[in-house]
Amino acid sequence: MKGYVKIFTYGCQMNDLDSRKMYSLLARDGWEATESLKKADLIILNTCSVRQKAYEKALSNIGRLRPYKTQKPSLIIAVAGCIAQQKGRDIISRMPHVDIVLGTHQMHRICEAVDGRREEHRQVVDTQFGEYIPSLDIVPDQAFMTPAHRAYINIMQGCNNYCSYCIVPYVRGREISRDHAGILEEVRGHAASGVKEIFLLGQNVNSYSGGISFSELLRRIDRVDGIERIRFTTSHPKDMSDELIACFGDLERLCSHVHLPFQSGSDKVLELMNRRYTRTRYLGLIEKLRKARPDMAFSADVIVGFPGETNDAYRETLSLIREVRFDTLYSFRYSVRPGTGAAAIEDDVPPEEKSRRLSELQGIQRSITLEINQSRVGTTPQVLVDGVSPRNPDQVHGRTTQNAIVNFAGSPSLISSTVRVCITRANPNSLTGDREVPAAGREALPI
Ligand code: SAH
Ligand code: SF4
Ligand code: F3S
Repeated sequence: MKGYVKIFTYGCQMNDLDSRKMYSLLARDGWEATESLKKADLIILNTCSVRQKAYEKALSNIGRLRPYKTQKPSLIIAVAGCIAQQKGRDIISRMPHVDIVLGTHQMHRICEAVDGRREEHRQVVDTQFGEYIPSLDIVPDQAFMTPAHRAYINIMQGCNNYCSYCIVPYVRGREISRDHAGILEEVRGHAASGVKEIFLLGQNVNSYSGGISFSELLRRIDRVDGIERIRFTTSHPKDMSDELIACFGDLERLCSHVHLPFQSGSDKVLELMNRRYTRTRYLGLIEKLRKARPDMAFSADVIVGFPGETNDAYRETLSLIREVRFDTLYSFRYSVRPGTGAAAIEDDVPPEEKSRRLSELQGIQRSITLEINQSRVGTTPQVLVDGVSPRNPDQVHGRTTQNAIVNFAGSPSLISSTVRVCITRANPNSLTGDREVPAAGREALPI
């Protein structure tokens, strides 16, 4: 046993998967995961830089680790992920208690970097971008796949889009896809060990180019025995092809949910954001997707208070939200990111106006989400059970194909199975239901 490791994860699902991979690599190398900071011999912060708040939070948490290092000088502190990529050696210059900085293409080097530090006191700072990203091919150990019936698979990384507000292309690099043969082999392996849901990840999955198209990849995964559900994120509206939309008509295992960020409802703002589609094109996509799959549920990301967003432009965002009626909306106040295109545009939306718009928009979305949830009362969707409800040990929770969270009375033995649930109550962000006992089961009951 080499020691205990704790990883703190910030940011998106990509970082979450990267952390599971790092835990797996370290476990194979003799490290044991712990939740206790005091016990830890290695602490990794897997960081996010997408908005200033995330950036500041991660930096302040790195700072807070200093006393642990003073108490246990052998403690190794590593910074990985997007801030590591962005700031590199600066992190150690500012915070000398940090031992290792590993960028987004170098995460696979974690064990080697830790050994180097322990054995030769070598500080490692590696933020090289490579032609390929070796960590794409790492399959996490079962112990770090929770829930065990869902496998997240990174099919591509990076982004070529350069939306003017966004730092991701700078911190994740250009788009690099993983070869389809490796992905399909991984899927078959997961299916053989009982995985039911495949969740494909990438900054822009629609432009996947690992030897076959993204829609062909979906079609091939759909043919793997044992896989019940397929999901993916994130899609860019400009790359949402008719071929991909057709998959929603043809592939039953493909879930009835798409996350399709629109960012703004105003063509003028979309242009300033360099999104390369119009409001009309976006609404056209939603219509086509609904035609292909009538019960389709949508989620999206939106930014308010982008420089140049007039009150009228903001109203166009509100009208788009009312028109589409998203099930879930992730809304953000524009945050300037250094080095991005938008950082050079004069920000003419005062901070208090940004906050006002955000809270108004969120209020509108809250009522839409609740109305959609209410409309589901009385329906009987299939729910894939993920775990015991955090707030009620007598209940379990799971997701419908539309990605709605459902809580219902049931025992932990239901985890990983798909059961039919009758929806009885709508909550602001979830549904409550009762398990429908199949007719045969009902007869067997003693009453
Ligand atoms: N690749 C994904 C995720 C990008 S980051 C995509 O293209 O959708 C997730 C979300 O954060 C974005 O969709 C955007 O809404 C938001 N975001 C990114 N940069 C931002 C910034 N500078 N300020 C506010 N929100 C931002
Ligand atoms: Fe950022 Fe745009 Fe790329 Fe998404 S598509 S990661 S928002 S640059
Ligand atoms: Fe954040 Fe990097 Fe993801 S900046 S949102 S962790 S790609």
